Amino acid sequence: MPFPESFLDELLARSDIVDVVGSYVQLTKKSGANLFGLCPFHSEKTPSFSVSPEKQIYHCFGCGKGGSAINFIMEIENLNFPDAVHFLAKRAGLTVPEEDGRDQNRGKRTRMLELNRAAARFFYECLSKPEGERAVAYMRERGIAAATAKRFGLGCAPDSWNALTDAMTRAGYSASDLLDAGLVKRGKSGRGLYDTFRNRLMFPVIDVRGSVIGFSGRILGDGEPKYLNSPDTLVFTKGRNLFALNLAKKSKQGILILAEGNIDVVSLHQAGFDCAVASLGTSLTDEQARLMARYTKNVVLAYDSDTAGVKAARRAIDIFDKTGVAVKVLRMEGAKDPDEYIKKRGADAFRVLLEKSENDAEYLLLTARSKYDMETDEGRLGFLAEAAELLAAKNSPVEREVYGARAADYAGVSAEAVKNEVQRLIKKKAFADKKRKEREEAHPSRALQPSDKSLRYENAVSAAAEEGVIRLLVMDPSLLNEADITEEDFSSPFLGRLFSMLAEKSRGGAPVSLALLASELPPQEASQLTVLLRRPESPGNARQAMRDYIEKIKTERLKKSGAADLAEVSRRYREKKGLEDARYGK
Ligand code: CTP
Ligand code: MN
Repeated sequence: MPFPESFLDELLARSDIVDVVGSYVQLTKKSGANLFGLCPFHSEKTPSFSVSPEKQIYHCFGCGKGGSAINFIMEIENLNFPDAVHFLAKRAGLTVPEEDGRDQNRGKRTRMLELNRAAARFFYECLSKPEGERAVAYMRERGIAAATAKRFGLGCAPDSWNALTDAMTRAGYSASDLLDAGLVKRGKSGRGLYDTFRNRLMFPVIDVRGSVIGFSGRILGDGEPKYLNSPDTLVFTKGRNLFALNLAKKSKQGILILAEGNIDVVSLHQAGFDCAVASLGTSLTDEQARLMARYTKNVVLAYDSDTAGVKAARRAIDIFDKTGVAVKVLRMEGAKDPDEYIKKRGADAFRVLLEKSENDAEYLLLTARSKYDMETDEGRLGFLAEAAELLAAKNSPVEREVYGARAADYAGVSAEAVKNEVQRLIKKKAFADKKRKEREEAHPSRALQPSDKSLRYENAVSAAAEEGVIRLLVMDPSLLNEADITEEDFSSPFLGRLFSMLAEKSRGGAPVSLALLASELPPQEASQLTVLLRRPESPGNARQAMRDYIEKIKTERLKKSGAADLAEVSRRYREKKGLEDARYGK
């Protein structure tokens, strides 16, 4: 642990889970001690996300995610552990104690960011040299002004196998620095290195803190691949970053426009839409949506108007739905993308388009309608079936009503008919959900299995008892006295580790802080901890229950160690029997 436990304790005490979660999720008090809200990590209509002020942890009955305030911030702000700690410390007005040198990656990260910055400068300077002529010509052709290029720090990679390698080597960077940053590649034959980006227009990817974390290189003209992006590195994960968010986050427009290509983004900014961003060659991820949700609750999709773009928009709508962001979708008639639209019709036309852009329900209805021949009964029925599905997935009854009427209108049927069909689908889904739940309850051992595959219980019988031990220890640390087992006796390495951590923490006799325990676990394990703590444990005869669990764990362990240990089983049996005989005076 890079942070002292006393500091984490203090941090958690000053970061009340209800406040922390409450600034992202609207929480309401139902009966009982817990607060409930709509889970920010999966899509749902009825609240199954609970927060316990007493235990200082959260848990979602729907998706199983859970943990402490730190786990929550890691998940929702998509930060690693140290960054989440800094985030909460800032919020709570605490100073983070000096971290020791154990975070070896820190030095490596700093060096990689310096290298990236040096590389960006090299690319930028190439624009004013002879080897940059082609790129300059290409920018002119695409209407990118010099001032725009400067604002984005655009540059060019010369048509050479080693221009960057040579320059960076001269600047003191080693081959392994360059390889780690993804700026050079190793040749097939083995030793030789060559520049990753050659003869391309270079877009530095700059994160919200202003660090150059990677690059996208676009081919100068037509050809494949159109874009080449830095590979994922210590400082760069494609699915977690967005091109131009460093600029767009400062926009006063109150929205973010999500486009597909870097050229589209540059062109949008140049036309005054300084809130445009693009993902980096992957389809939109949950993390990117959450990242955008940090800056706005209103996103406009300006994807290309080809089939791939329409499909991508549909996916993006689903992802933003989960994030609680309102989405509008642009339909650029007569142009393939925002860049072309602005070139053809001008910035003002684009602004009008933005203002009258359809919200997602309208967009979905219209794209569904365009798939069917609405002149035929068959087409209208197909459209209605699809429209009803779309509407049934909507949370808001008002939205269902308004767009239900619109769908009815398109198909020439009564609004009532559409409404009935939507209601039928909603009921059908609720019924299916209920059945699934019942099935799960009928198979407790299946239900016991952690949803995360890496934590799977090999021995469900033993794991059930192991979970019981953990629950009891959380309830009453003094029960540790009854637990004469060690981590190695556990069939589940995860539960064994929990046991050791609990044993360690309860040694001082103080009650164990669940929040602190959860904070020290990776996300899947923190979640599984909150899942297993939900199962009931009767406080009635805790001591006896502990003994029974321990017995079960030992028996299962002996069974597993096989026939060779049979002697041990019978020895233990006799020993135990002897003890009991003695106790009952036989
Ligand atoms: N893409 C990529 N890496 C990026 C950005 C985009 O791989 N850093 C991919 C997207 O996934 C998408 C395509 O490139 O499939 C987007 O291209 P397009 O919008 O055509 O890019 P533009 O630069 O705008 O090109 P054009 O001038 O042809 O519109
Ligand atoms: Mn484009």
